[in-house]
Amino acid sequence: MAKAKATAFFCKECGYESAKWMGQCPACREWNTMVEEPVAKGSSSRYAAVTGGTERRNGKPVKLSEVSLGEQERVSTGYRELDRVLGSGIVAGSLVLVGGDPGIGKSTLLLQVCRNLAGTGHKVLYISGEESLRQIKLRAGRIGEISGELYFLCETSLDAVGDAIREMSPEMVIIDSIQTMYREDIASAPGSVSQVRESTNILMQIAKGMGITVFIIGHVTKEGVVAGPRVLEHMVDTVLYFEGERNASYRILRGVKNRFGSTNEIGVFEMQEKGLVEVENPSEYLLSGRPEEASGAVVACSIEGTRPILLEVQALLAQTSYGTPRRTAAGTDYNRVNLLMAVLEKRCHYEMSRYDAYVNIAGGVRMNEPALDLAIVMALVSSMKDRAVNPRTIIFGEVGLSGEIRAVSMAEQRVNEAAKLGFETCILPQVCLDKMKRTDRIALRGVSNIREAIGML
Ligand code: TYD
Ligand code: MG
Repeated sequence: MAKAKATAFFCKECGYESAKWMGQCPACREWNTMVEEPVAKGSSSRYAAVTGGTERRNGKPVKLSEVSLGEQERVSTGYRELDRVLGSGIVAGSLVLVGGDPGIGKSTLLLQVCRNLAGTGHKVLYISGEESLRQIKLRAGRIGEISGELYFLCETSLDAVGDAIREMSPEMVIIDSIQTMYREDIASAPGSVSQVRESTNILMQIAKGMGITVFIIGHVTKEGVVAGPRVLEHMVDTVLYFEGERNASYRILRGVKNRFGSTNEIGVFEMQEKGLVEVENPSEYLLSGRPEEASGAVVACSIEGTRPILLEVQALLAQTSYGTPRRTAAGTDYNRVNLLMAVLEKRCHYEMSRYDAYVNIAGGVRMNEPALDLAIVMALVSSMKDRAVNPRTIIFGEVGLSGEIRAVSMAEQRVNEAAKLGFETCILPQVCLDKMKRTDRIALRGVSNIREAIGML
């Protein structure tokens, strides 16, 4: 009989397992991400997610009517922005992964959440494998007064972490970060795919078994052998990513998976001297400092989760000096911009190939909604003709390949948000306008193809 191999190759991006090395991971299509690691022996039950719940019934199938829900109580984190992304608060016994680039503010955010929870009478344990107690104290000094039952532990061995949790039985635990945790019975180094997975498995059993909420911090890494948080996405209940430009002060918390609420919600924070502060009205924030009467700038409205957000789309067209014009898209989909330029070329006979084009969503946010199409088109045309769009006008709508303007969802909410912020005119798909209630707070102008829309410039 062939001897079972002791090692296998794992993709450190997505955790794909393979018997041989490959240059490209077949699952996530990333290059050069396969690393060799020992296979975890007697791995702590692959199906822990299913059986590890508190209501284990000896493997006997049950009817849903026999399952008691208990009290599905949600605890507020003290931040409305975070509560909304979590689906109106923390669910007891859930496992939440918070991913993001190093230095983006994950530790700061969770320390602030711990402070809020401890202040409202909850027992919280913060386990750090990265920083010393002194460093944590320095950070805590910046974010302000901490009171109540908030405990800290500097530890990287998961056995010790498990013992501490069982002994203390807190309501909430923070693991900062999962890449520093290790289990002694696994041969590979901390941060490797098998360590990260097995550690999460243990934490999941603790969370589900004891009804403790566990927040796991995971660094997004581009190089090195450290496994990224995507390896864990399928194991946890909720996945949040903390994003933002390093040199800009605001941060966006985006929910990409949530077993207890809707995804696509975003929360906006600003990093200040004294920690993170919520930004309650992101539209105002994103539109502040907007140049009025400048060509190539258009205000659009995107729906993130359940909330409409106004933002500024900018385009710059410049005569090209090369055979192949340059095109860049910052904050939006590059291929979409190319497609829209092709539509303009074909349907409106603008010679787009004569121009280099740069499209940007102001403020460094990333928005990919098709409803931004029309705004991108209008920004391009406005820049090409060097004619400004009225700064009190907002534009949204999806553009199809024949130049038609298609309906978008939640048009009414978008219009309301624009009216609330004092916009005077809204250019929107005619199909949406037909279905909408009339309003006199803002002038609505329906369009059914891009030529009509450009005519309104
Ligand atoms: P941190 O939470 O340590 O990031 P992560 O845990 O995601 O690696 O955030 C570190 C950055 O935040 C650091 O560059 C300093 C900045 N910061 C502030 O600007 N103000 C503050 O009050 C705090 C605590 C940090
Ligand atoms: Mg940190």
